[in-house]
Amino acid sequence: MEIFKDIKKFKNRRKEIKKTVGFVPTMGALHEGHLSLIKKSKLENEITIVSIFVNPTQFNDKNDLKKYPRPLKKDIKLLSDEKVDILITPSYEEIYPDGYRYKLTETDFSKKLCGKFRPGHFDGVLTVVMKLFNIVKPDKAYFGEKDYQQYVLIKEMAKAFFLDIEIVACPTVREPDGLAKSSRNLLLNPKERKKASLIFETMVKNISDESVKKILNENGFKVEYVETINDRRFVAAKLGNVRLIDNIKISRRKE
Ligand code: PAF
Repeated sequence: MEIFKDIKKFKNRRKEIKKTVGFVPTMGALHEGHLSLIKKSKLENEITIVSIFVNPTQFNDKNDLKKYPRPLKKDIKLLSDEKVDILITPSYEEIYPDGYRYKLTETDFSKKLCGKFRPGHFDGVLTVVMKLFNIVKPDKAYFGEKDYQQYVLIKEMAKAFFLDIEIVACPTVREPDGLAKSSRNLLLNPKERKKASLIFETMVKNISDESVKKILNENGFKVEYVETINDRRFVAAKLGNVRLIDNIKISRRKE
Protein backbone atom coordinates (compact mmCIF):
# COMPACT_ATOMS: atom_id res chain seq x y z
CA MET A 1 0.00 0.00 0.00
CA GLU A 2 1.29 3.45 -0.88
CA ILE A 3 0.95 6.01 1.92
CA PHE A 4 0.90 9.78 1.29
CA LYS A 5 0.99 12.50 3.94
CA ASP A 6 1.80 15.17 1.43
CA ILE A 7 -1.13 16.28 -0.75
CA LYS A 8 1.09 17.64 -3.54
CA LYS A 9 2.92 14.31 -3.86
CA PHE A 10 -0.38 12.45 -3.82
CA LYS A 11 -1.84 14.72 -6.52
CA ASN A 12 1.15 14.00 -8.78
CA ARG A 13 0.63 10.26 -8.21
CA ARG A 14 -3.11 10.65 -8.88
CA LYS A 15 -2.40 12.13 -12.33
CA GLU A 16 -0.76 8.85 -13.35
CA ILE A 17 -3.83 6.75 -12.44
CA LYS A 18 -6.03 6.15 -15.45
CA LYS A 19 -8.10 3.38 -13.82
CA THR A 20 -11.43 3.69 -12.00
CA VAL A 21 -11.02 4.98 -8.44
CA GLY A 22 -13.19 4.17 -5.42
CA PHE A 23 -12.74 6.37 -2.33
CA VAL A 24 -13.46 5.64 1.33
CA PRO A 25 -12.98 8.74 3.53
CA THR A 26 -12.53 7.93 7.24
CA MET A 27 -11.37 9.39 10.52
CA GLY A 28 -9.51 6.16 11.37
CA ALA A 29 -10.13 3.83 14.34
CA LEU A 30 -11.25 1.44 11.65
CA HIS A 31 -13.77 -1.32 12.30
CA GLU A 32 -15.79 -3.80 10.26
CA GLY A 33 -18.13 -1.02 9.11
CA HIS A 34 -15.21 0.68 7.34
CA LEU A 35 -13.95 -2.65 6.02
CA SER A 36 -17.35 -3.31 4.40
CA LEU A 37 -17.04 0.03 2.53
CA ILE A 38 -13.51 -0.88 1.41
CA LYS A 39 -14.61 -4.35 0.26
CA LYS A 40 -17.42 -2.82 -1.82
CA SER A 41 -15.05 -0.25 -3.31
CA LYS A 42 -12.59 -3.00 -4.22
CA LEU A 43 -15.34 -4.97 -5.95
CA GLU A 44 -16.56 -1.99 -7.97
CA ASN A 45 -13.32 -0.14 -8.84
CA GLU A 46 -9.83 -0.93 -10.10
CA ILE A 47 -8.12 1.24 -7.46
CA THR A 48 -9.26 1.91 -3.89
CA ILE A 49 -8.06 4.99 -2.00
CA VAL A 50 -8.72 5.51 1.73
CA SER A 51 -8.16 8.69 3.73
CA ILE A 52 -7.59 8.93 7.48
CA PHE A 53 -8.08 12.46 8.76
CA VAL A 54 -9.61 13.31 12.13
CA ASN A 55 -11.36 16.47 10.99
CA PRO A 56 -11.36 19.10 13.78
CA THR A 57 -13.95 21.35 12.09
CA GLN A 58 -16.72 18.75 12.50
CA PHE A 59 -16.23 18.44 16.28
CA ASN A 60 -18.35 20.99 18.12
CA ASP A 61 -16.97 19.64 21.43
CA LYS A 62 -13.21 20.06 22.00
CA ASN A 63 -13.13 17.19 24.50
CA ASP A 64 -14.76 14.84 21.99
CA LEU A 65 -12.00 15.70 19.49
CA LYS A 66 -9.29 15.16 22.12
CA LYS A 67 -10.71 11.75 23.12
CA TYR A 68 -11.29 10.53 19.56
CA PRO A 69 -9.32 7.25 19.15
CA ARG A 70 -6.29 7.39 16.79
CA PRO A 71 -4.78 3.89 16.49
CA LEU A 72 -2.89 4.74 13.27
CA LYS A 73 -0.48 1.76 13.27
CA LYS A 74 -3.31 -0.73 13.72
CA ASP A 75 -5.32 1.04 10.99
CA ILE A 76 -2.42 0.87 8.53
CA LYS A 77 -2.07 -2.88 9.17
CA LEU A 78 -5.82 -3.41 8.62
CA LEU A 79 -5.74 -1.43 5.37
CA SER A 80 -2.74 -3.23 3.95
CA ASP A 81 -4.34 -6.59 4.90
CA GLU A 82 -7.40 -5.47 2.89
CA LYS A 83 -5.07 -4.67 -0.01
CA VAL A 84 -6.06 -1.03 -0.20
CA ASP A 85 -3.99 0.60 -2.96
CA ILE A 86 -3.39 4.06 -1.50
CA LEU A 87 -3.83 5.66 1.94
CA ILE A 88 -3.68 9.43 2.43
CA THR A 89 -3.15 10.85 5.94
CA PRO A 90 -2.88 14.63 5.51
CA SER A 91 -2.29 17.13 8.33
CA TYR A 92 -4.67 19.90 9.40
CA GLU A 93 -2.40 22.53 7.79
CA GLU A 94 -2.51 20.71 4.47
CA ILE A 95 -6.28 20.30 4.42
CA TYR A 96 -7.00 23.80 5.75
CA PRO A 97 -4.41 26.13 4.18
CA ASP A 98 -7.11 28.82 4.43
CA GLY A 99 -7.55 28.23 8.20
CA TYR A 100 -11.20 27.28 7.49
CA ARG A 101 -12.08 30.73 6.16
CA TYR A 102 -13.99 29.01 3.39
CA LYS A 103 -16.72 26.57 4.31
CA LEU A 104 -19.65 24.79 2.79
CA THR A 105 -23.08 25.14 4.41
CA GLU A 106 -26.33 23.34 3.72
CA THR A 107 -29.20 25.35 5.14
CA ASP A 108 -32.04 22.90 5.69
CA PHE A 109 -31.56 19.19 6.50
CA SER A 110 -28.17 19.86 8.13
CA LYS A 111 -29.94 21.92 10.80
CA LYS A 112 -32.16 18.99 11.85
CA LEU A 113 -31.45 15.81 13.89
CA CYS A 114 -27.68 15.83 14.70
CA GLY A 115 -27.34 19.35 13.28
CA LYS A 116 -29.64 20.69 15.99
CA PHE A 117 -27.39 19.33 18.74
CA ARG A 118 -23.99 19.76 17.05
CA PRO A 119 -23.84 23.30 15.67
CA GLY A 120 -21.41 23.54 12.74
CA HIS A 121 -20.92 19.78 12.56
CA PHE A 122 -22.22 19.31 9.02
CA ASP A 123 -20.42 22.45 7.75
CA GLY A 124 -17.22 20.72 8.85
CA VAL A 125 -18.22 17.39 7.30
CA LEU A 126 -19.33 18.83 3.95
CA THR A 127 -16.29 21.12 3.70
CA VAL A 128 -13.77 18.37 4.38
CA VAL A 129 -15.52 15.89 2.08
CA MET A 130 -15.55 18.45 -0.75
CA LYS A 131 -11.83 19.10 -0.19
CA LEU A 132 -11.07 15.35 -0.15
CA PHE A 133 -13.17 14.82 -3.30
CA ASN A 134 -11.19 17.56 -5.06
CA ILE A 135 -7.90 15.97 -3.98
CA VAL A 136 -8.78 12.31 -4.70
CA LYS A 137 -11.07 12.82 -7.73
CA PRO A 138 -12.84 9.48 -7.28
CA ASP A 139 -15.41 7.90 -9.59
CA LYS A 140 -17.32 6.52 -6.60
CA ALA A 141 -17.26 7.30 -2.87
CA TYR A 142 -18.55 5.05 -0.10
CA PHE A 143 -20.41 6.02 3.09
CA GLY A 144 -22.05 3.97 5.84
CA GLU A 145 -25.79 4.12 6.43
CA LYS A 146 -25.04 4.39 10.17
CA ASP A 147 -24.45 8.09 9.48
CA TYR A 148 -27.53 8.31 7.29
CA GLN A 149 -28.02 12.07 7.61
CA GLN A 150 -24.38 12.56 6.57
CA TYR A 151 -24.87 10.22 3.59
CA VAL A 152 -27.97 12.12 2.38
CA LEU A 153 -26.26 15.52 2.76
CA ILE A 154 -23.18 14.36 0.84
CA LYS A 155 -25.26 12.73 -1.90
CA GLU A 156 -27.28 15.93 -2.35
CA MET A 157 -24.13 18.09 -2.20
CA ALA A 158 -22.62 16.03 -5.04
CA LYS A 159 -25.78 16.67 -7.07
CA ALA A 160 -25.97 20.38 -6.18
CA PHE A 161 -22.34 20.99 -7.21
CA PHE A 162 -22.44 18.83 -10.37
CA LEU A 163 -19.75 16.46 -9.09
CA ASP A 164 -19.17 13.45 -11.34
CA ILE A 165 -18.93 11.19 -8.31
CA GLU A 166 -21.36 8.39 -7.50
CA ILE A 167 -22.17 8.39 -3.79
CA VAL A 168 -22.71 4.82 -2.61
CA ALA A 169 -24.41 3.90 0.69
CA CYS A 170 -23.49 0.67 2.48
CA PRO A 171 -25.63 -1.01 5.16
CA THR A 172 -24.83 -0.50 8.84
CA VAL A 173 -22.66 -3.27 10.27
CA ARG A 174 -23.78 -4.38 13.74
CA GLU A 175 -22.32 -6.21 16.72
CA PRO A 176 -24.06 -9.55 17.53
CA ASP A 177 -26.23 -7.72 20.12
CA GLY A 178 -27.38 -5.14 17.52
CA LEU A 179 -25.17 -2.18 18.48
CA ALA A 180 -24.09 -0.33 15.33
CA LYS A 181 -20.31 -0.57 14.84
CA SER A 182 -18.71 2.79 15.52
CA SER A 183 -15.25 4.08 16.41
CA ARG A 184 -16.88 5.68 19.47
CA ASN A 185 -17.85 2.25 20.88
CA LEU A 186 -14.18 1.97 21.93
CA LEU A 187 -14.82 4.76 24.45
CA LEU A 188 -17.59 2.88 26.32
CA ASN A 189 -16.69 1.18 29.59
CA PRO A 190 -17.81 -2.50 29.92
CA LYS A 191 -21.02 -1.59 31.77
CA GLU A 192 -21.94 1.09 29.22
CA ARG A 193 -21.05 -1.23 26.34
CA LYS A 194 -23.51 -3.84 27.66
CA LYS A 195 -26.26 -1.26 28.00
CA ALA A 196 -25.61 0.33 24.59
CA SER A 197 -27.40 -2.47 22.70
CA LEU A 198 -30.67 -1.16 24.18
CA ILE A 199 -30.69 1.56 21.51
CA PHE A 200 -31.13 -0.94 18.68
CA GLU A 201 -33.36 -3.23 20.73
CA THR A 202 -35.75 -0.36 21.49
CA MET A 203 -35.69 1.50 18.19
CA VAL A 204 -36.83 -1.53 16.17
CA LYS A 205 -39.96 -1.94 18.34
CA ASN A 206 -43.34 -1.04 16.89
CA ILE A 207 -43.88 1.78 19.42
CA SER A 208 -43.89 5.57 19.11
CA ASP A 209 -40.75 7.73 19.01
CA GLU A 210 -41.83 9.18 22.38
CA SER A 211 -41.98 5.68 23.91
CA VAL A 212 -38.50 4.83 22.58
CA LYS A 213 -37.20 8.06 24.12
CA LYS A 214 -38.87 7.30 27.47
CA ILE A 215 -37.46 3.75 27.68
CA LEU A 216 -33.92 4.92 26.87
CA ASN A 217 -34.06 7.84 29.34
CA GLU A 218 -35.38 5.51 32.06
CA ASN A 219 -32.40 3.24 31.44
CA GLY A 220 -29.71 5.85 32.00
CA PHE A 221 -29.31 7.28 28.49
CA LYS A 222 -29.51 11.01 27.86
CA VAL A 223 -31.57 11.05 24.69
CA GLU A 224 -31.01 13.95 22.27
CA TYR A 225 -33.65 12.89 19.77
CA VAL A 226 -35.79 10.04 18.54
CA GLU A 227 -37.41 11.12 15.31
CA THR A 228 -39.01 9.37 12.37
CA ILE A 229 -38.60 11.14 9.05
CA ASN A 230 -40.29 9.53 6.04
CA ASP A 231 -39.63 5.82 6.53
CA ARG A 232 -36.57 6.07 8.79
CA ARG A 233 -36.27 6.33 12.58
CA PHE A 234 -33.24 8.24 13.86
CA VAL A 235 -31.86 8.10 17.41
CA ALA A 236 -29.05 9.98 19.17
CA ALA A 237 -28.33 9.38 22.84
CA LYS A 238 -25.47 9.82 25.25
CA LEU A 239 -24.29 7.09 27.55
CA GLY A 240 -21.92 8.68 30.06
CA ASN A 241 -19.83 10.98 27.87
CA VAL A 242 -20.17 8.90 24.73
CA ARG A 243 -22.60 10.04 22.06
CA LEU A 244 -24.15 7.20 20.06
CA ILE A 245 -26.32 7.47 16.95
CA ASP A 246 -28.29 4.93 14.97
CA ASN A 247 -31.11 4.75 12.44
CA ILE A 248 -33.26 2.11 10.87
CA LYS A 249 -35.65 1.88 7.95
CA ILE A 250 -39.15 1.17 9.17
CA SER A 251 -42.38 0.20 7.46
CA ARG A 252 -45.15 1.38 9.79
CA ARG A 253 -45.16 2.56 13.37
CA LYS A 254 -48.01 2.79 15.82
CA GLU A 255 -48.37 2.47 19.59
O1 PAF B 1 -17.97 9.58 8.64
C1 PAF B 1 -16.83 10.01 8.91
O2 PAF B 1 -15.94 9.27 9.36
C2 PAF B 1 -16.50 11.48 8.67
O3 PAF B 1 -17.60 12.29 8.93
C3 PAF B 1 -15.94 11.75 7.26
C4 PAF B 1 -16.97 11.45 6.18
C5 PAF B 1 -14.69 10.92 7.03
C6 PAF B 1 -15.57 13.24 7.15
O4 PAF B 1 -14.62 13.61 8.07
